[in-house]
Amino acid sequence: MTDFRIPTHVRLAPGCSANLPAVALELGATRVLFVTDGGLVDGPLVKRALAKLESAGVDCLLFGEVEANPRTQTAERIAALAKPGDVIVGFGGGSVMDAAKAAAMLATNPGGVNAWLGKKVFPQEPLPFVAIPTTCGTGSEVTWVAVLTDQARNVKISIKGTQLFPNVALVDPELLRGLPPHLIASTGLDAMTHALEATTGCVRNPISDAMAEKSLALSFEFLGRAVRDPKGDAQALDGVMRASTLAGLAFGNSDVAAVHCLSESLGGLYDVPHGLANALLLAPVMRAHGESVAPRLAELAQVLGQGATAADFMNELEGLVASLELPGVSSLGIVQGEERRIAELAVANGSNSSNPRKMGVQEYLDILNEL
Ligand SMILES: [Fe+2]
Repeated sequence: MTDFRIPTHVRLAPGCSANLPAVALELGATRVLFVTDGGLVDGPLVKRALAKLESAGVDCLLFGEVEANPRTQTAERIAALAKPGDVIVGFGGGSVMDAAKAAAMLATNPGGVNAWLGKKVFPQEPLPFVAIPTTCGTGSEVTWVAVLTDQARNVKISIKGTQLFPNVALVDPELLRGLPPHLIASTGLDAMTHALEATTGCVRNPISDAMAEKSLALSFEFLGRAVRDPKGDAQALDGVMRASTLAGLAFGNSDVAAVHCLSESLGGLYDVPHGLANALLLAPVMRAHGESVAPRLAELAQVLGQGATAADFMNELEGLVASLELPGVSSLGIVQGEERRIAELAVANGSNSSNPRKMGVQEYLDILNEL
């Protein structure tokens, strides 16, 4: 049975983030707890959003210290600032949205992140949460999961629950304007990873497949253009933003797989940015999957007008990745001798069972050695 769920109210249009004050008031806000990161907090996008809230008479508290690979303590710190009547807003990339999403839940469900690991039904309804992505990759604005780093154990943990879906997602491609090209490239390839893993994994379903196909079509058409002209090419920015949200809908109702199992291990151990890790691992992992994904990749090649075989699809994918001028695999930070530990963490990842083939320690070691 296909079981597809998206309770989030998604608004997607250039400029739609200007509706934040009205959305917050509709959600009953007596105050907005506005969560962002150190790179955005003093910039024009945040200033504009805060000014709009102020001119609408919405009281606002700013938290601007979410780090890449956000720590469990960061979500707990944000939750400690919250009070009843707050609407939590996550304004940033996946790190910000995940930390803010977790904080919205922790604010009403005490006990800290570790009390709520895995898939849970939270006894108390989280505070209302609005997600506003400023990158084109994570899809967190339409998913029920928050991924955090447990610094004590150097591992990524996730909390999941149907009440973690954002109430509203304001998906505004204008917010991508001026994002550094390398971030458009790496987060755009994170979105392609979501779409591809959702549609080649063993828990794929027809609705996720349709969304993944559309997402991949948009990424192939627009990602290169958006990277080359992130200030001027509004059509390309719109395309990669839609690709990202569609990929989030796809994997949110299917799953991710080996690329994420590895990238989350590397993020936990070495603090590698999530998008960059996926960007560098996507093509090698898909190649390693071989026959287990070949029929689906051949279908995708046909749907996307790339040819008729899995090789046609892989050639297009690798051509796109090569054109984006990503840093080399050394930027994954893998410490020689730690490959087995990385592989063991990947096997322990909650998404490992969603792979198109059985992935054990040796299979992950083979991929790491191939890099
Ligand atoms: Fe991802």
